[in-house]
Amino acid sequence: MASSDTVALIVAAGKGERAGGDVPKQFQLLGRVPLVEHARRAFAGHPAIQSVLTVVAPSQEASVMGASVAGGETRRESVRNGLEAIAATGGAARVLIHDAARPTIPKAIVDRLLEALDNARGAVPVLPVADTLVRGGVRIGDVIDRSTLARVQTPQAFDFAAILAAHRAWPEGEEATDDAQILRRAGYDVVSVVGDPLLDKITYPGDLALAEARLEASMRVR
Ligand code: CTP
Ligand code: MG
Repeated sequence: MASSDTVALIVAAGKGERAGGDVPKQFQLLGRVPLVEHARRAFAGHPAIQSVLTVVAPSQEASVMGASVAGGETRRESVRNGLEAIAATGGAARVLIHDAARPTIPKAIVDRLLEALDNARGAVPVLPVADTLVRGGVRIGDVIDRSTLARVQTPQAFDFAAILAAHRAWPEGEEATDDAQILRRAGYDVVSVVGDPLLDKITYPGDLALAEARLEASMRVR
């Protein structure tokens, strides 16, 4: 890697407990190709991206294509391991951090994110919340005004030096479910671009079957 590169970092070291199945969800097949490989190919085929690094559990390193590095106990630790590996091998100018559990990455999203990075240290795809939101419980609680909320997807694009510094400064013992909040904690602004439902995460049993149906439908219209 080189200090002027744009690198894609795919995190694929989770256990996929909510999705279940014989292998962790990122290795389950969508159209005969593992989810993580869908993501890797999308980034490898983008003209603005010079290299792709995948973070996997040590036992799975043989099952991914391309360069890989060992993950950690949490998503945050897995990302940190990946960022440190990039830093140790020449660094990068920009990094796109992505969940392997989101196999479909429209090229336009990457284009939008990288364009937004011209004026910010971090950019993320977001979508509005469609459902009514309430405080949870056996008896539901108060409504939360959804017009003030957004749901955040990946890939998330960052200035490499800024996100590396933010991860290094993050308090040990605290967790974060994405990297935008880690960059914000370090005092930087994160801007949003319009997300895409195709980026929704495979999380529960059945999500993969829906993605499969969508893929088959898209092949029929081609
Ligand atoms: N991830 C990772 N290392 C971890 C935990 C998660 O690289 N220690 C990755 C997952 O592989 C996934 C992404 O982070 O691509 C988003 O996490 P999530 O959807 O929560 O995946 P899992 O943690 O694997 O699933 P679950 O929480 O249901 O066990
Ligand atoms: Mg998880």
